[in-house]
Amino acid sequence: MKIRKAAIKDWPAIKKLLCEFPDKLMQKHLPKPSAFFVAIVDGKIVGCCALDVYSKRLAELRSLAVTKKSQGQGIASKLVAVCVAAARKKKIYEVLAISGSEKFFAKHSFHTFHQEKYALLNILG
Ligand SMILES: CC(C)(COP(=O)(O)OP(=O)(O)OC[C@H]1O[C@@H](n2cnc3c(N)ncnc32)[C@H](O)[C@@H]1OP(=O)(O)O)[C@@H](O)C(=O)NCCC(=O)NCCS
Repeated sequence: MKIRKAAIKDWPAIKKLLCEFPDKLMQKHLPKPSAFFVAIVDGKIVGCCALDVYSKRLAELRSLAVTKKSQGQGIASKLVAVCVAAARKKKIYEVLAISGSEKFFAKHSFHTFHQEKYALLNILG
């Protein structure tokens, strides 16, 4: 398995992968193609994750998905690690993930609370 930055030619495969999941938010307002990293097995995209950089201070992990057949092999974990490493390289201070998979993200050091700080959301949608 190899992880690399997405290229424009990967866009149809990324959209197809995200369409596997019923969560409509996964398909709306997607990050730009250049924000994505993709996981490749046997020449095929089996996973993706985007690092959307908002400022020097904040970036968001978005559109994390692994095709059903390839789940449970640590692919999402590697994608998250690569995105976090990319954020670190850019000296970004905090990385946000909004997800129902709290336990998954907790394994990757994403927590609701850190040194007297909470991330507070006002969901308008
Ligand atoms: C969530 C998802 C990306 C995980 O992909 P994956 O490649 O199977 O993940 P990994 O193999 O790296 O999983 C590592 C661990 O997380 C656990 N895990 C996987 N999905 C989980 C979930 N939805 N909630 C909690 N834990 C989860 C696995 O059981 C595994 O645990 P272990 O290390 O104790 O065995 C994949 O299930 C998926 O694409 N889901 C649909 C889209 C989605 O929900 N995206 C995440 C929200 S942004």
